[in-house]
Amino acid sequence: METLTGMERTHNCGELRKSDVGAQVQLAGWVSRRRDHGGLIFVDMRDRSGLVQIVFDGSTDGLDFTKAETLRNEFVIGVRGKVRARSEDTVNPKMDTGEIEILVEELRILNKAKTPPFYIQDGVDVDEMVRLRYRYLDLRRPEMQQNIILRHRVAKIMRDYLDENGFLEIETPMLCRSTPEGARDFLVPSRVNPGQFYALPQSPQIFKQLLMVSGFEKYFQIVRCFRDEDLRADRQPEFTQLDIETSFLNQNDILTLMECLVKKIFETTLDVKVETPFQRMSWDEAMTRFGSDKPDLRFGMELQDISEFVKGSDFKVFNSVLENGGQVKVIRVDDYADIPRRELDNLVEYVKIYGAKGLAWIQYSKDGIKSPFKKFYSEETFEQIKQATGCKTGDLLLVVGDKASVVAQALGELRLEMARRRNLIDPEKLCFLWIVDFPMFEYVEEDKRYKAMHHPFTAPREEDVEFLLTAPEKVKANAYDIVLNGVEVGGGSLRIYRSDLQEKVFEAIGLTHEEAHAKFGFLMDAFEYGTPPHGGIAFGLDRLIMLMAKRKSIRDVIAFPKTQSAIDPMSHAPSEVDEKQLRELSIKTAVKKKSF
Ligand code: AMO
Ligand code: AMP
Repeated sequence: METLTGMERTHNCGELRKSDVGAQVQLAGWVSRRRDHGGLIFVDMRDRSGLVQIVFDGSTDGLDFTKAETLRNEFVIGVRGKVRARSEDTVNPKMDTGEIEILVEELRILNKAKTPPFYIQDGVDVDEMVRLRYRYLDLRRPEMQQNIILRHRVAKIMRDYLDENGFLEIETPMLCRSTPEGARDFLVPSRVNPGQFYALPQSPQIFKQLLMVSGFEKYFQIVRCFRDEDLRADRQPEFTQLDIETSFLNQNDILTLMECLVKKIFETTLDVKVETPFQRMSWDEAMTRFGSDKPDLRFGMELQDISEFVKGSDFKVFNSVLENGGQVKVIRVDDYADIPRRELDNLVEYVKIYGAKGLAWIQYSKDGIKSPFKKFYSEETFEQIKQATGCKTGDLLLVVGDKASVVAQALGELRLEMARRRNLIDPEKLCFLWIVDFPMFEYVEEDKRYKAMHHPFTAPREEDVEFLLTAPEKVKANAYDIVLNGVEVGGGSLRIYRSDLQEKVFEAIGLTHEEAHAKFGFLMDAFEYGTPPHGGIAFGLDRLIMLMAKRKSIRDVIAFPKTQSAIDPMSHAPSEVDEKQLRELSIKTAVKKKSF
């Protein structure tokens, strides 16, 4: 096999332009595609910077043309040659280097390649399992390289921006005690402390707060977090946060700092304009208007309440809902009164996934009103509803009645689904907003207790502290989420910094004094030694890059992700381990060994 010795790279493939015509160049990279025209062979040669066309001409002095004939896709080659302009009719406007080509004078084959299991090109239609199994090849595809490069650039901007603003990057442990972010922990057995386990951090929450106690004032870390939860397109068992904590700043200071960071990231890498400050919306308003705490504001179709028009009729469904303190709400789908019956039936099933017992509708079609509850209401009521919801003839209302939380979830999801189906989402739009004034707690029906909505270190609003133990559902928190196009890309809060208040919050979520001290005694102790007021935020880096790269899955912006069932099909993690290893860790599994 040949080497590059004496033919070291002078240029990158994707950089060459018309101004380089006449230059003698040495390139190294991969064969992306080759076309054999008898005495002429054209190869698209690829390296990280992009593609360039190279030409082997059988009549070139000193060129070993038979060697060029052996080239196959993904061979690794080095070439020496001269840049020349392409003739007018062969210019390729789709390629950055499409105005030139390289006439090759010397070819070296640095390595051969088996035929890959899929084409190394953008937009390949291949099963994701195959892509993940051969991830090293998948990552060779230009679009995947762009995603990973974007990720690098964003992380670099984050570091630079935070450094310029006085933040310090400080590492925190990976082997720690469990942090309560609400998911299950990944556990690591301790060999030297048999029967004891570390937890991998769900976030560096407690450590970053302790760094504030230590007086570092401004901390950040680009850090891996681990959560053993059910996976979705925007969730991985290990993911990366830009984690931030500050002392002495108020909520507005923190949000403003973060808006400037986000603006800088988007404007520098994507060259798009981002308007600041971002819209701020209370959690209550978001739930009322959009049925979601992460509303996608790229389109309207807001939830509207029609309870006052439909109450007190003979229609049992709405009556019982309203008598039980529920509500009847609608979304308006413009120009879709003639929705096929089949689709309505399908939507009924759709809302049931989200807990609704049913779905009704009003079709204001040209040939009259159609609705499953038409006979229970007067023409006038339907006219009032039409006016109140801004309907015109030709529009459709989709109606759900239930308790507020179910209506929000069902109509919130239906709103997104109808926007997708009706093509109402402009993929070029960026809609940032802050959701603020979150409830401090949510009630968990199955456990019959309250849990912290963000996490239990979040500070309740000053004026609500008195209700912590008497009416926890009333208490709002100094917590905020940053939402982009319907995805929660970050979340944070001002923190509790006094141990008496921290104890009260633990009590409100049902931790006894003893339990709280056994788990978090060190934190409450720390609070006794001069803890500054502090607060912070964490961005989901993977989610942010996913949106920036316009991908549907965070797996596309993580070099080596796990599948939805939390496995790595390439290295086959997780795997069984030797008996000996388990013995050393004093561990026995209850799972029978597979017999092969
Ligand atoms: P939170 O739990 O909201 O806050 O997490 C912050 C952000 O991390 C991202 N994220 C995830 N991304 C991919 N896969 C996951 N499984 C996953 N889980 C969360 C989301 C989310 O907004 N310690 C607090 C922050 C703070 O209070 O400062 C925390 O971790 O984008
Ligand atoms: P039923 O009396 O269950 O046959 O329902 C009569 C009509 O009301 C049907 O069209 C149902 O789809 C609709 N419906 C039932 N439950 C709900 C609900 N919770 N919200 C809105 N419409 C409903």
